Order: sequence, then C-alpha cells, then structure tokens
Amino acid sequence: MLILGIESSCDETAASVVEDGRRVLSNVVASQVEEHRLYGGVVPEIAGRRHAEAISGVVEQALADAGVTIADIDGIAVTYAPGLIGALLVGVSFAKGLALSADKPLIPVHHLRSHIASNYLAYPDLKPPFLCLVVSGGHSHIVRVDSYTDFAVIGRTRDDAAGECYDKAARAMGMPYPGGIALDKLAAEGDPTAFHLPHPRVEGSPYDFSFSGLKTAVLNRLHNAAQKGEEVNKADLCASFQRTVTELLVGNTLRAAADIGASTIVLAGGVAANSGLRAGMQAACDEKGLTLYLPPLSLCGDNGAMVAAQGYYEYLAGHTAGADLNAVAGLPIDADNC
Ligand code: KG4
Ligand code: ZN
Repeated sequence: MLILGIESSCDETAASVVEDGRRVLSNVVASQVEEHRLYGGVVPEIAGRRHAEAISGVVEQALADAGVTIADIDGIAVTYAPGLIGALLVGVSFAKGLALSADKPLIPVHHLRSHIASNYLAYPDLKPPFLCLVVSGGHSHIVRVDSYTDFAVIGRTRDDAAGECYDKAARAMGMPYPGGIALDKLAAEGDPTAFHLPHPRVEGSPYDFSFSGLKTAVLNRLHNAAQKGEEVNKADLCASFQRTVTELLVGNTLRAAADIGASTIVLAGGVAANSGLRAGMQAACDEKGLTLYLPPLSLCGDNGAMVAAQGYYEYLAGHTAGADLNAVAGLPIDADNC
C-alpha cells in the first residue's frame, strides 16, 4: 500500500511516499529555516506563506522521486495537529483538495505520533509496545506506546520543551536559530563538569520535566559574568548544559521504564538528534539491559516520511477523515479524536 505523507506543522514543507508504512520511496523537505533565522525564531505568518508557495512543488517532487503518479497512491496522510495553525492549515487544505480531486482516502496524523513512527522506517523489526521519549521544539513527552495507534502520556514538561530550552540557551550564547544543533557541536569541545546547573524536579510527578529553571540558570551565569566583565567559557557552559538536560531526560525515562516494566526504549523528535542524549540514553540502556532504538539523524527533524508511516497504521485502524477535517493547534497525542 502506498501512502503520500504531507507535513507543514512548523517550518518545513515536506512530502514523501512510503510503502506499507516502512519503505521510503521518496522524501522531499523544503526548509524555511534560513528565513526564520533572520528573526531568531519561527515567524508564523511567514511560515504559512512559504508553505503555501512550496507545497504543490514539494508534493509533485515526492511523487516524481518515487516514480509514481497520484493515481498509484492508496491514501493521503497529513499532519493536522499540533503545530502553528496557519502552517497546519496549508497542508490540511492541500491534502483535502488532493484527496477530493483524486478520490483517495484522507488520513489525519498527529505530529508526535509521526515522530515516533520515524523509527518504523529505520527498524523493520520494531513493533509496539515500547516506551518512547519524544523530544522536539514544542514537546517533551514520555509516551507509553501500547499499539501503533494507542498512546498514553505518562510524563510531560510543565513549562519549556527540551528543544525550546536548547534554542533559548543557545540564543543567549549568541548562536543563530535553531540553536540546538550549534550548542550540541560546541558542547563536544567543553568540559561537562565545569558548571553545576540545577536539576529541577516536579514534586509528586516523577516522570514530568521542568526546563525553564535550567534556561534561567544559563542566562544568570551569562549575565553575572557580563556584569563582572568576565569571559564565560561557552564550550564548557554548553557541555554542562547538555549533560544536565541529558541527565534529566534519561533519568525520568529510565525511572518510568523500570516502574512500568518496559524493556524497549525509543527516542523520537528533533532533539533525538542530540549527540549527548543519544550517547547518554545508550549507556543507561546498556547498563540496565534495555533495548534502545535511535532514529537516524535524517529522520529526527520534521519530514513527510514519518507522516506517511504513521498514516499507514492510522489507515489500517480505520482512522480517516472527510472534507470537514480541520487543523488543530493543540491536541494531546492520546486524544480520542486523533
Ligand atoms: O521535531 P522538530 O524538528 O520540530 C518540532 O516538532 O518542534 O524539533 C526541532 C527542535 C529544535 O528546537 C532544534 O533546536 C532541536 O529540535 N534540535 C536539537 C538538535 N537538533 C535539532 N537540539 C539539540 N541537539 C541537536 N543536535
Ligand atoms: Zn516535529
């Protein structure tokens, strides 16, 4: 079965054709990141406009790269939630029009579900149940994946997402948007024990995260040093920050795994590309005898292939939509109407 996946939730316009939820036939991503970098973050109005300009060409290219036409496609999957509403609407409207004109089933896909599904593309043997840490620019969740379409969030951030925290800390250190990657690179040159940063805990919720205090701690270090006219060793601060975020993410995930008896851990989302998190999670899983799946770097960021992969399983579960499908800015991964 061939599914066309369309993604436009943030700042990448993407489309892909995937066979049976596992085999990528094409994967086209048009990134707007260079333009948003001028403003230090994603400008929603610009994102919507750029999606509208790019989407026909991106979808056409995805079909051409796969060597198929729309007639060969069995279903059109589209990210409909959560994300920037004006950005989501472009993908949803385009997918609705295409599904209507080509007489194909329309499959709504939740963005975080698709991030998790990026792992199905890389690991043919991976099947639920497993425990997944989903860390992106907008979310930090520990999710029990009971089946391809049944999810339970057991841990979440109470304030900033991990990626947001990375981007804000990087911005404070003068790095361009999105700073997560740059911070990760500089961290490799620093001493992870140079700075002691707080490890905020959420009282009574052992799997929840709170990252805003960590971001503030980085800002305070920088401001204090600036006031005293001192130089902060940025590589050391990056390395210490990365070590702290990794300890928090790995600690809560492994605690949750032990408590629910999960033996398989999966990482997903843009921050799953972080070298410290990948190494830290691997070491912790090796020590505890847990199996870890890490998404390939090429599939960590937003892409259409993960939408098509999840779309395949949503379709098998009977989750299709009509022309009344709407985009939703905020929607839990375990909502009934996903
Ligand atoms: O999943 P994603 O592409 O978009 C959202 O759904 O939000 O995630 C983007 C986030 C950004 O905050 C970006 O800085 C972060 O992922 N990111 C990283 C790395 N690569 C991307 N954060 C830390 N280390 C990285 N290597
Ligand atoms: Zn994403």
